[in-house]
Amino acid sequence: MLEFTLLEVEENDYMLIQNLIRFYVYDMSQYTEWKCPPNGLFGGADDQPYYFGRIPQDPEDRWPDGWSGKGFKIMVGNEIARFCLVRFYSNGDVHLNDIGEFFILRKFRGKSLGKQVAHAMFNRYRGKWQVRQMLENRPAQTFWRKVIADYTKAGFLEKTEFFPEDQCELVVQRFESPTRP
Ligand SMILES: CC(C)(COP(=O)(O)OP(=O)(O)OC[C@H]1O[C@@H](n2cnc3c(N)ncnc32)[C@H](O)[C@@H]1OP(=O)(O)O)[C@@H](O)C(=O)NCCC(=O)NCCS
Repeated sequence: MLEFTLLEVEENDYMLIQNLIRFYVYDMSQYTEWKCPPNGLFGGADDQPYYFGRIPQDPEDRWPDGWSGKGFKIMVGNEIARFCLVRFYSNGDVHLNDIGEFFILRKFRGKSLGKQVAHAMFNRYRGKWQVRQMLENRPAQTFWRKVIADYTKAGFLEKTEFFPEDQCELVVQRFESPTRP
């Protein structure tokens, strides 16, 4: 098992995350219609400001009311190994945690790091969770099914659902991480 440190992103990590998201977007382009931009530089995420406590300038990039975000970078020694962006929805008594983006640099894949970090997130933010994947991203579906089944002892629900904010159908797993004893 790899030892890792989970750090909340700070303002001076903005470019780091933006640049890493480009690799995430490139990976995701395998499953989407996204084309390589003319300058060869894949884009970042339009909603990234939320993970730094800000609101995107363009209204088209805004989340529905009640959502906020937090970003994390995961270090293995002094090296960045991955990032994880988490969203939180709150409306009255309803609270929901949601994995926004989850990306491991290739050299760190297949070493249980994704699983350990996901479990650390579920423990950090106790309560209702949803994790969503593109229909085409079957490797991610396999990964999340295993990670969540392991965490919940198979106590999760999965379905395919239309998400109006994303204007598409996604596979979603839902479960609850238990409150601390
Ligand atoms: C998907 C991803 C996060 C997996 O991270 P990882 O650190 O390599 O995964 P782990 O080593 O912790 O694997 C945990 C389990 O998932 C399985 N798994 C991981 N990647 C898998 C893949 N591509 N296909 C099938 N199973 C996979 C592992 O075999 C392991 O199973 P086990 O518990 O039975 O041994 C990583 O490949 C990644 O960042 N991919 C690109 C971005 C992406 O797709 N993110 C998810 C978007 S929803």
